[in-house]
Amino acid sequence: MKRILVIGSCGQIGSELVPALQNVEGIEIVCATDKKNPQDGNGSNFACFDQLDVLDYDALENFVKDNNIDTIYHLASLLSATGEKYPQTAWNLNINGLMNVLEVARKNDIKRIVWPSSIAVFGPTTPRENTPNDTILQPSTMYGITKVTGELMITYYAEKYGINIRSVRLPGIISCETLPGGGTTDYAVEIFYEAIKNQHYECFLEKTTILPMLYMSDCVKALIQIIQADPSRMHHRVYNLTGMSFSCAELAHEIRKHIPDFTIDYKPDSRQQIADSWPMTIDDSLAREEWGWKPIYTIETMALDMVQKLRKKLL
Ligand code: SER
Repeated sequence: MKRILVIGSCGQIGSELVPALQNVEGIEIVCATDKKNPQDGNGSNFACFDQLDVLDYDALENFVKDNNIDTIYHLASLLSATGEKYPQTAWNLNINGLMNVLEVARKNDIKRIVWPSSIAVFGPTTPRENTPNDTILQPSTMYGITKVTGELMITYYAEKYGINIRSVRLPGIISCETLPGGGTTDYAVEIFYEAIKNQHYECFLEKTTILPMLYMSDCVKALIQIIQADPSRMHHRVYNLTGMSFSCAELAHEIRKHIPDFTIDYKPDSRQQIADSWPMTIDDSLAREEWGWKPIYTIETMALDMVQKLRKKLL
């Protein structure tokens, strides 16, 4: 029986991708792993879990062999704001972690890999509106540099060794199961927690800052769909994805529809510069054409769902 390995399963995306994959493929097919112990917090409800550090090549290879893995979701990554604080750690995890996955794949007959890239591959020289799939990639953050390098690495391994490796450039991901950590788009999650707990949020970006976003259920759907798609129709390895774009003030306005007393202050910090270097809107038409990508959630339906779910969770 061939199995799927999820690396970084306690993170924001992994904690929701694992149960979704288990639903689709069967509980015993999905091996959830993370450097962290899930008892410390996230992911403690996984049916099966093993501690595994993607930077430990031998441990990764042994795990792949022992568990008959043929598909890997590699989600372990340091995000943009943390990457600016710790550039060497970002390079080490994001590049050497990916290299270990690719090498293990090459030597152990891994058939499929999904590795998320990011809108952080774009930079100040990229068109910021309706950013195309194939465009200038000159990021101004260490995180973006690791994602551009990663895109080249997966393309090389896919073409040279015939592994079906796919990637999506994720925008900000909004969800309520597990908090994101260390990203620039994190405000769009924090704002909901603070709105429900304290009816107030101090935003670290300007009110006019517009960024592309995606709701978690659409994100999970994309990560599952891209590996099931017909490779003969796919002429790219890496696809732009988006669900919605809004400014901080527009999101605050949407939240106020459900929490009328909600107030917001804007105190931009160093993350503003990162946000200003990223696209405002994304053209994801290639993903739509080549593998049928179609997000469901809008700012209205996302905000309603977030408020309903977080009220249950926090109050
Ligand atoms: N959510 C990420 C970040 O803000 C973007 O990929 O760093």
